[in-house]
Amino acid sequence: METKPKIGLIGSGRWGKNYVRNLAVLGVLGAVCDQDQASLDWVSSQYPQVWTTTSVDELAARAEIAGVVVATPTPTHAPIASQLLAAGKHCHVEKPLTDSPESARELLELSNQRNLTLMVGHILLYHPVVEYIKGMIDNGDLGEIYYICAQRANLGQIRRNENAMWSLAPHDISVVQYLLGADPHSVSATGRAFVQTDEQIHDITHLTLHYNGRQFATITSSWLDPEKVRLIKVVGSERMVVFDDMDPRYKLQVHEKSVDWEQFSEPVAGSSLKVRSGDVSIPFVKPTEPLRAECEEFIRCIETGATPRANGSQGYANVRILACADESLRQEGMPVATNL
Ligand SMILES: NC(=O)c1ccc[n+]([C@@H]2O[C@H](COP(=O)([O-])OP(=O)(O)OC[C@H]3O[C@@H](n4cnc5c(N)ncnc54)[C@H](O)[C@@H]3O)[C@@H](O)[C@H]2O)c1
Repeated sequence: METKPKIGLIGSGRWGKNYVRNLAVLGVLGAVCDQDQASLDWVSSQYPQVWTTTSVDELAARAEIAGVVVATPTPTHAPIASQLLAAGKHCHVEKPLTDSPESARELLELSNQRNLTLMVGHILLYHPVVEYIKGMIDNGDLGEIYYICAQRANLGQIRRNENAMWSLAPHDISVVQYLLGADPHSVSATGRAFVQTDEQIHDITHLTLHYNGRQFATITSSWLDPEKVRLIKVVGSERMVVFDDMDPRYKLQVHEKSVDWEQFSEPVAGSSLKVRSGDVSIPFVKPTEPLRAECEEFIRCIETGATPRANGSQGYANVRILACADESLRQEGMPVATNL
């Protein structure tokens, strides 16, 4: 009988518990490590057969564990993941991959040297609606892509170790990068810190990614907002789409909308602008759990050596964009070259 690789998890906190459930359902959860014993007690109460520990060293030493998911706070990603890669474990690290481009680059190089999978928790790349929009773009259904506009907001969760942009924007950056299939040449960002003013931890940021040609993307991230918003709009020359992840039923709308120049020759030659405002359609997109697909991809890549969609290079580019945006924030929105 074919046996699946055993997966360990480090960090069974708020988000990590979703990995516990998914990896257990997939029959691969072999070990859980958390420095908080209460969190491990919860794991043992749900899955008594799963081995638990408070020590990363102990988990890294377990020979039967082929790959590890790291779902600890962002500043701990780099030291934990580099220890695991050095111990020969495939790694799936939550977003953002690390808190600096230098440490992200080091992880990428280590994974390449060791021929190990390095994957990042860019969950929206496994969302069926994002895949559907990507298909539309690749088929030319939207025409030329003019711009993408993303908004991610809620009241909380306010973090102490990173700003709202590092907490929320990695998702939108990953989607924009995937949909446009290119890296921005520069980034500008503005924002404000209202709550943690001494530490200058921004609660709201507006980020603009500038691409070659005339394409651009804007990303708003806020944890100081009265409403939960998860919105991505893609505006093309032929059609426009709206992905509203808060809508339980109609997550994707396709708008038959565009603006064209109309040429005329009589009575006087010239042109005028014509707005086309047609039907709005809601394509059926089979709902699937993105985190399940993400876990399945990690297992498949360990088994086959394939490169995941949310791979280490992607994770590095994402962190590089965030670091450039931080620099721009300090300079009140001055564009900063990404050198990607
Ligand atoms: N993909 C998503 O949609 C999504 C959503 C939320 C959070 N996240 C990411 O998941 C990660 C964790 O976020 P969270 O909200 O679950 O945080 P959390 O604070 O609720 O949980 C983190 C857990 O890690 C444990 N931990 C911390 N340092 C450790 C160490 N050195 N060794 C072992 N255990 C350690 C803590 O005890 C805690 O249980 C972050 O990187 C965050 O960005 C991703």
